[in-house]
Amino acid sequence: MSYPEHRPRRLRRNAAVRRLVAETRPAPAELVVPMFVKEGLTEPRPIGSLPGVLQHTRDSLRKAAVEAVQAGVGGIMLFGVPAERDERGAGGIDPNGILNVAIRDVVSEVGDATVVMSDLCLDEFTSHGHCGLLTPDGSVDNDATLAAYAEMAVAQAAAGVSVVGPSGMMDGQVGVVRRALDAAGYTDVAVLAYAAKYASAFYGPFREAVESALEGDRRTYQQDPANLRESLREVELDVAEGADMVMVKPALPYLDVISAVRATVQVPVAAYQVSGEYAMVEAAAANGWIDREQVMLETLTSIRRAGAQIILTYWAVEAAELLRQRY
Ligand code: PBG
Repeated sequence: MSYPEHRPRRLRRNAAVRRLVAETRPAPAELVVPMFVKEGLTEPRPIGSLPGVLQHTRDSLRKAAVEAVQAGVGGIMLFGVPAERDERGAGGIDPNGILNVAIRDVVSEVGDATVVMSDLCLDEFTSHGHCGLLTPDGSVDNDATLAAYAEMAVAQAAAGVSVVGPSGMMDGQVGVVRRALDAAGYTDVAVLAYAAKYASAFYGPFREAVESALEGDRRTYQQDPANLRESLREVELDVAEGADMVMVKPALPYLDVISAVRATVQVPVAAYQVSGEYAMVEAAAANGWIDREQVMLETLTSIRRAGAQIILTYWAVEAAELLRQRY
């Protein structure tokens, strides 16, 4: 007779035991909500491929920021959509550009009640939609772009942001941004480096959200989805250049990358659950094919389990409320 002495099911027998032994539990304080603000908008506008996410007016952004604080989220990541764009992305540097204005608005509204962060990239501001400046032959000019990022970082810091998120995948961007911030006296502004950012088709809905002008792709600067070790190299360089936190992006299709990065660095690791990840779940749920809330929490738990301590997610506010009820 075989007697099963080993019975892992004992620790699954009811909700109380499962709660007691759960190894991973995403917390509201670790969630960061991305928000979009569009210049000149008079009413908040829904984004078709991101149900539940809005392009905000300056006013509705302030209100949404307060709601996010009330829900207990750890941070807000701001993206600006300018009314006009040019070759050089000047609107990203202009103190009166929409993103810098929005940083001021949100900081004056919520202060230090949550961590206000800003995307540091030119793609929302350039007429060609690339993350950097172009050479005459149309390729992305790494070092000319770095100079623009340095100015943009200082403008965002002057607007009061706590954390800048360089997301353009230019070589050397973290070091240049760090030095520019320090030289301008913003030694306390932290850098969340989009260290391992893949050239992913999961960014599709985001491009609708920011009305991206991009034709073509970003494969000469974002990473090839085939590569894992390359991420570790990117992360190592960013930490050496002064990154305070590093990010992997997208999240769910790259859990192996999150896990490997977590094992490699000592700084906090973030993951960005991107627009296409969110849209897939929302679309399937709208069809009644999956349980929306369960899948939402399962994805966040999995990303946390893989090693991301901070998660950027369009569900942050709702998930924070759900998590508070459940745990
Ligand atoms: C670049 C940026 C992008 C995203 C965040 N920052 C777009 C891109 O790299 O093409 C995508 C985020 C998402 O899909 O949710 N500024």
